[in-house]
Amino acid sequence: MRNDIHVILDEVIDSGVYHDGPRTERLAAIAGERWGGFPIPVSSGTMALTAAFRGLAGEPGDEVVVPAMTFPSTLFAAIACDLVPVVVDIDPMTRNLDPTAVEAAITPRTRAIVAVHLHGLAADMHRLGSIARRHGLAVIEDCAQAAGATQSGRFVGTFGDFGCFSLWVGKNLGGLGDAGLLIARDRDRVAMLRRWVDLGRDDDRNRHDLVGDLGRIDELDAAVVAHQLELLPQWIERRRGIAAGYSAAFTALPLRLPSDEFDRPHTYYKYAIQTASPHQANALMAHLADSGIAAEQVYPVPVASQPAFTSPVTGRTPGHRRTPVPVAERFARTHVCLPIYPELTDSEVERIIDAVTGYYRGEGASSGKVLATAGRVEHGS
Ligand SMILES: Cc1ncc(COP(=O)(O)O)c(C=O)c1O
Repeated sequence: MRNDIHVILDEVIDSGVYHDGPRTERLAAIAGERWGGFPIPVSSGTMALTAAFRGLAGEPGDEVVVPAMTFPSTLFAAIACDLVPVVVDIDPMTRNLDPTAVEAAITPRTRAIVAVHLHGLAADMHRLGSIARRHGLAVIEDCAQAAGATQSGRFVGTFGDFGCFSLWVGKNLGGLGDAGLLIARDRDRVAMLRRWVDLGRDDDRNRHDLVGDLGRIDELDAAVVAHQLELLPQWIERRRGIAAGYSAAFTALPLRLPSDEFDRPHTYYKYAIQTASPHQANALMAHLADSGIAAEQVYPVPVASQPAFTSPVTGRTPGHRRTPVPVAERFARTHVCLPIYPELTDSEVERIIDAVTGYYRGEGASSGKVLATAGRVEHGS
């Protein structure tokens, strides 16, 4: 996209407008066509989540149910708004919130369910939505990894009260650095949220009506993202094509593959295979590194095991509640994310497939025998 971006950069510099200009307006308009509601372009996914939690207008100490496999921002944003994240386990097949665990975690203090669409696969919004309705809860969708993902043909970000997107440069849809998008559904909250992400201002730049944050997007990112939104569907198709090649090649290996659900087509921000043990995951990653292939774990520990929650440098553990998360703990240590992005060539995909299958033929640092005796991927504690 280098040439396209250079044109956009020149346009922005020539305009002399770096914030709150026509490119931000255009992004909001295009996002409105794609996701409906009231789109508010912001400076990051973390900011979109923080604004959404503000928009909940809960009482300090109200609880929000979050999955154990997510980026810390999902919890940090809630904590910044004086809410208490309650961490629950994931489903072993979809790696998204386990609806049964969600229901078990609900208390009189629960205010919202936070559905994270991990790796680009929609969480089951039909089930989570019906739990939320039954208990009178709000739903916040963390769509940071899932721009363009759907359930039953409907885009994620359109099911909940708020859809929160990260437009960080490495995401399926991303600007040049950090950017984000909040889609609000409640018309009454929109004016407050727009002010809140702009230091409490409205049109009068010298008047601050409330204590807000500096959370606006810049014009360059807004223009790049608007341009990319048009390309997103074809990029997702390419990701799905690569994933189909991986899945076909790995089906007989002792791995759990990502689940491409019938009514929830995966958009493959990550293609994560689950191995039989932490040792195998590490050995496979080492073998791939030897072959010049960058594989990674996203995330290597469940979020509430981060030092911010176990031994924070401030010495003060932030308010949160954990429930047992054996599935997430095992997944975190046993999965491996393979390279997946639209620009991968077919021959690079073949090389990655050969490297993974080669490992399982016993060509890797760790013998294939161990895997053969493991037989299948175990889950649970
Ligand atoms: C699931 C999830 N939530 C929230 C975020 C935060 O987004 P950002 O990095 O744009 O602040 C990310 C991005 O890294 C994410 O993957």
